[in-house]
Amino acid sequence: MFDTLRNWVLQLGRRTRQAIAISAIAALVAIALGTWSVAQQPVTISFLVRAVEAEQLQLLVDQFEAENPDIRIDIVQGPNAADAVENLYTTSFLLGDSPYDLVYADVVWIPKFAAAGWLQDLSDRVSDDDLSAFLEADVLSGQYQDGLYRMPFRSDMGMLYYRTDVLDEIGAEPPETFEELLALAQQAQTETDVTWGFVWQGAQYEGLITNFVELVSGFGGFWVNPDTLEVGLDSPEAIAAVEFMRQVIADGITPGGVTNYIEEDSLRMFENGNALFLRNWPYVWAEANKDGSPVQGNIALKPMVHAEGQQPAACLGGWGFGLAVDTPHPDEAWRVVEFFTSRQGQKDFVLEFAYVPSRRDLFTDPDILAAFPHYQQLLEVAETTVPRPPVGQYAQISDILQRYLSAAITDQLSPEDAMQAAARETRRVLGSPDNNA
Ligand code: GLC
Repeated sequence: MFDTLRNWVLQLGRRTRQAIAISAIAALVAIALGTWSVAQQPVTISFLVRAVEAEQLQLLVDQFEAENPDIRIDIVQGPNAADAVENLYTTSFLLGDSPYDLVYADVVWIPKFAAAGWLQDLSDRVSDDDLSAFLEADVLSGQYQDGLYRMPFRSDMGMLYYRTDVLDEIGAEPPETFEELLALAQQAQTETDVTWGFVWQGAQYEGLITNFVELVSGFGGFWVNPDTLEVGLDSPEAIAAVEFMRQVIADGITPGGVTNYIEEDSLRMFENGNALFLRNWPYVWAEANKDGSPVQGNIALKPMVHAEGQQPAACLGGWGFGLAVDTPHPDEAWRVVEFFTSRQGQKDFVLEFAYVPSRRDLFTDPDILAAFPHYQQLLEVAETTVPRPPVGQYAQISDILQRYLSAAITDQLSPEDAMQAAARETRRVLGSPDNNA
């Protein structure tokens, strides 16, 4: 076979032999160039984010891509409810071969995701010294057993917003207690043109839980003690918290539609000038003060109201980045995390959207303080944060509580029956002591 080929080549003229050689070299060069250009294709790093925040994160995506031409970021927009996004991540990991390189994770997801083996331990990538720059609660929520599975990006905490112009009109100070809030709401509804007294998040989802955590703490109760696994849902304080949610609806202080509201619905109601009080997160400040907002310049915030003799409570929220266990590009994905969680990344994001940073020194950054006159109040709120229980079964116990809270506020069950059933089911899932049996 080789002899035949050799004879055939020798029979060709010299010029033809040269032409073949040149073509062969050209072909080899073309193949080499092709391989090179594939190697130069940017790597794409993908993660899923609630739609509202996906649009905001684009600010940092654009900056990152301009500085890192070898990496593209593909943010996939998810639903706006936090736990709906969790479900999508969960499904993608359960099915295997998750399309996400990073997990943009809520503060309550880590025990479950880490225990399931869906995230990489970041301990080797971050030193204790690096971590000490972040808020302690945010770091703790990313730890599981001996590992670190989430880098904090932004913190979050629930608070009470109010309309300063409406309170001025009725000559009142902002409320401290539940009773004061109810009285002021009713007075404003009668004497001013605000339609509703108090709006919050009552849909059956994670946001309802965060509202409840603040109320139950404000009444002096608790949901789950993570150290003893004691469950406080059927205590008088927890039942009082649910009763409060029902009462504001029954008294017409809160619209009945609140049982379908998530953050954005209640924000729209407040922003359009239709409510005196709003329970929500820090980002509302920038949103409600933006140009064209009917309440621009007329809002303020404070720690949540509470029962007489008790303390205010802000549910601790927040978001950060985990590294998916099977990402083909861990180092590139980590560069994205480093950029977003850097001091400058957080600062730019905070300055644009009024979120709360998770880096401690940004709370006293002169540029942020100059841009945001409300930071003093935010610091007061930050003093009152209460975490949700950091247990591996968090998604299950949240789901139980969501169902029974929803049943109570839509009048399908009395607060007492709902909370007794919720407590029973929660104890069963956690294997808790039967403290209130
Ligand atoms: C906010 C919080 C998050 C919480 C969610 C509930 O996004 O940061 O922790 O779970 O609201 O809706």
